[in-house]
Amino acid sequence: MEAELSRGTIEKAYARWAPVYDIVFGAVFDRGRRAAIVAAERIGGRILEVGVGTGISLPDYKRSNRLVGVDISEPMLRKALARVAEHNLENVETLAVMDAEHLAFPDNSFDVVVAQYVITAVPNPEATLDEFSRVLKPGGEIVLVNHIGAESGPRALFEKGFAPLARRLGWRPEFRFGRLADWAARHGGVRVIERRAMPPLGHFSLIRFARA
Ligand SMILES: C[S@@+](CC[C@H](N)C(=O)[O-])C[C@H]1O[C@@H](n2cnc3c(N)ncnc32)[C@H](O)[C@@H]1O
Repeated sequence: MEAELSRGTIEKAYARWAPVYDIVFGAVFDRGRRAAIVAAERIGGRILEVGVGTGISLPDYKRSNRLVGVDISEPMLRKALARVAEHNLENVETLAVMDAEHLAFPDNSFDVVVAQYVITAVPNPEATLDEFSRVLKPGGEIVLVNHIGAESGPRALFEKGFAPLARRLGWRPEFRFGRLADWAARHGGVRVIERRAMPPLGHFSLIRFARA
C-alpha cells in the first residue's frame, strides 16, 4: 500500500530544502526545466507555474510571456520573490502561496500550466491534474517534467524500497507513467501528446497533455 504523502510532510520537507534547494537541485534538473520552458513557449501567453519553488526557472522564460507562480511552501516562495526582484522580472504577474489541488483561479485562465518536478510530490496527483485542466484554456497544454518510476527490474525494486524514506523528503520515487495516462483517459478532455526521456539518466520524462 502507498505510504501517505501529506501536505504537512511536504511543507516540512520544503522548509528544510529551501535554503539549499538551488545548490542541490539547480544544475541536475536544469535540462528538464529548459525543455519544459521550450514546450510552454511554443504556445506562450499567460503561463501558470505550479510548484514554482525558488523560482529557479522564471528568468529563463521570454519576457513576452506573462507568468504566475504558486507554491505551497512559503520558505521556497520567499526565495522566488527575491529572485524576481533581483532579475527585475516585470513579466511575473503574481507569486502566491497556494495548494495545487485547490487553485484560486477561474476556469480557462491560462494558456499553459507547467509543473516541473512537482506532480509526484503532491498528496493527490489526479485531483491536482484535474485542477490544472480546469484552469487551462481550451487548446492549451499541461507540461510536466518529472522523475517517473521504472516499470520493472532492479530500478523498480530500488524505488519501491526507497519509497518510505523518500516520503519524508517529499516525493514518490515509484510513481509510474501509467497513473498519468490513466488520469488522461478517465478525464476525457485532455490527451497525452508527448512523453520524452530526460536526463539525469533518462529516469525523468517531459510529458505534455493537450486540452480539447
Ligand atoms: C521538487 S520541488 C520543484 C521546484 C521547481 N519547480 C523546480 O523546478 O526546481 C517541488 C515543489 O513543489 C511544491 N509543492 C509540493 N506540493 C505542492 C502543492 N500541493 N501545491 C503547491 N506546491 C506544491 C514544493 O513546495 C516544492 O517547491
